[in-house]
Amino acid sequence: MKFFIDSADTDEIIELAETGLIDGVTTNPSLIFKTGKNFLEVIKEICDIIPGPVSAEVLATEASQMIEEGLRLSEIAENVVVKLPLTWDGLRACKYLTDEGIMVNVTLCFSANQALLAAKAGATYISPFVGRLDDIGQDSMQLIEEINTIYANYEYETEILVASVRHPIHIMQSAMVGADICTIPGRILKQLANHPLTEKGLEAFLADWSKTGQSIL
Ligand code: E4P
Repeated sequence: MKFFIDSADTDEIIELAETGLIDGVTTNPSLIFKTGKNFLEVIKEICDIIPGPVSAEVLATEASQMIEEGLRLSEIAENVVVKLPLTWDGLRACKYLTDEGIMVNVTLCFSANQALLAAKAGATYISPFVGRLDDIGQDSMQLIEEINTIYANYEYETEILVASVRHPIHIMQSAMVGADICTIPGRILKQLANHPLTEKGLEAFLADWSKTGQSIL
């Protein structure tokens, strides 16, 4: 499974990129707002840090304007992925941009039929939002399974990019289902490494080791 960082914070992205575990980045207008920085500049900075796909979202809602914005965003760097909302206009812009060879991430997906439309429009990535579905009492993992089955049935190449991840179980369940990618906030990515028995075990080993009076170096 590929891990993307769901962040526009360049310090956080640099720190996490150093682990070698990060395959890409997703941003959205809310994450850009949090940085207080210029949108186009921050996307350029992220593309310089991460060689993998970096999603940058259009703000227009009408197809021809989405296309214009998407073309502008795609000029920033080769690894920019134009992020478009899952609306009729977004799907039309998706078809146009992917036909031009530009990568597209179709976002704000909440149903299997929406994901089917995105694949037919040639989307590179589909972003189902699991946390926001859970928030309204729906089974988000069932949606990931449905999309996975539909894409396998028709051999669509669109990759499933699980978004709105709120806790480590979302990531484990997405991996069990076979989702291609999870985009993960930095603090949740770090949580994946934690287990109380790991901490307890390490503490005991270090306590016993100190009693030996030895050192490796
Ligand atoms: C990623 O592409 C999405 O913008 C993001 O995961 C949304 O997450 P949220 O529901 O926590 O805002």
